[in-house]
Amino acid sequence: MVEKREPVVRLERGFWIITAVFAVLSIAAVIYWYYAPVSSWLPVGARPAEEIDELFKFMSAIASVLFIAVFGYLLYFSFTFRAKKSDPPGAIGVQVHDHHGLELWWTIIPAILVIVLSALSIKIWYQIQIQPNNGLVVESIGHQWYYTFRYPQVHGEITEAMHLPVNEPVTLNVTSADVIHSFWVPAFRLKADMVPGLINTLRFTPTLPGTYKIICTEFCGTQHAEMEQQVVVVESKAKWEAWYHGWQQKNANVSDALPKAGGGTIALAGGDPKAGQALFATKCSGCHAIAPFDQKIVGPGLKGILDDPKHPNLVDGAPANPADVAKILQNGYKGDYPVAMPNQTANGLSDKDIANLVAYLGSLK
Ligand code: CUA
Repeated sequence: MVEKREPVVRLERGFWIITAVFAVLSIAAVIYWYYAPVSSWLPVGARPAEEIDELFKFMSAIASVLFIAVFGYLLYFSFTFRAKKSDPPGAIGVQVHDHHGLELWWTIIPAILVIVLSALSIKIWYQIQIQPNNGLVVESIGHQWYYTFRYPQVHGEITEAMHLPVNEPVTLNVTSADVIHSFWVPAFRLKADMVPGLINTLRFTPTLPGTYKIICTEFCGTQHAEMEQQVVVVESKAKWEAWYHGWQQKNANVSDALPKAGGGTIALAGGDPKAGQALFATKCSGCHAIAPFDQKIVGPGLKGILDDPKHPNLVDGAPANPADVAKILQNGYKGDYPVAMPNQTANGLSDKDIANLVAYLGSLK
């Protein structure tokens, strides 16, 4: 038979001592978070990063107090009400049901916390998402595995770092050209998913000149971990304008369609297999193994591609010969593969690089 223990009505002295300890720890935690030097852990590069830090501190303070109370009492009660040697076998602890006082408080306190957190979050959300701000409108497009940027009156896409003038409001629209990426600038405390066919918007004002990381936080294929670029907050409008006009000129004759390389025929004579091998390691080996054709990483294995008379035709249907391999390097390839192969421009390959790569592939027997 199961014997029931009598409920303990009066809390012992130990309970009040431990409660005092938790209260002191909680106050210390709140003070710690209030003064936490978040901006020295991570620079505050834009508005409203500071308000987001305040929200973070507030949440951390509440979470610390809850953590101390929940785990503190869990440990204390586990110890105090542990089974005693004298308990009969199968004895169970005191069962508490329908304690209205307890239920009232553990409903009211979390409800108030959730409402306060919502109010604080919505205020910041409004600034980032809705508040009109007629500043510079910039677009960023996620690609496997790099970011490009479009600016008003600049043709085509800018492939180097994103430049923004300090203290100028920015409306940033992000999307993706292939799979879901993410645009995260820790120094701005801002993050938006880059989804094909959808435009997400972030509004902010860069406040601190410097160079900050843009990081992809959405798994987007084999090179996801490498997808990182930079945003440069330029210390003066004039300096930013020089950069901006430079790109206006540089891209004056570029089409506004997504970049597609591959105009002329590439001269393959004089390609250097050694240089090609080094390039292959940095540009190609994420997707292609030097292994038989059927050993795919993302794309097929490329060993003996130009040496094997029985090698299947290339993805574009052309036979495997140096000129057609060069064409694929030039144009990139989409097809049925889960991931598109970037074209020459996107891959940052010069004509000479392509000649070297083809020479390297040709040297593999
Ligand atoms: Cu792009 Cu992960």
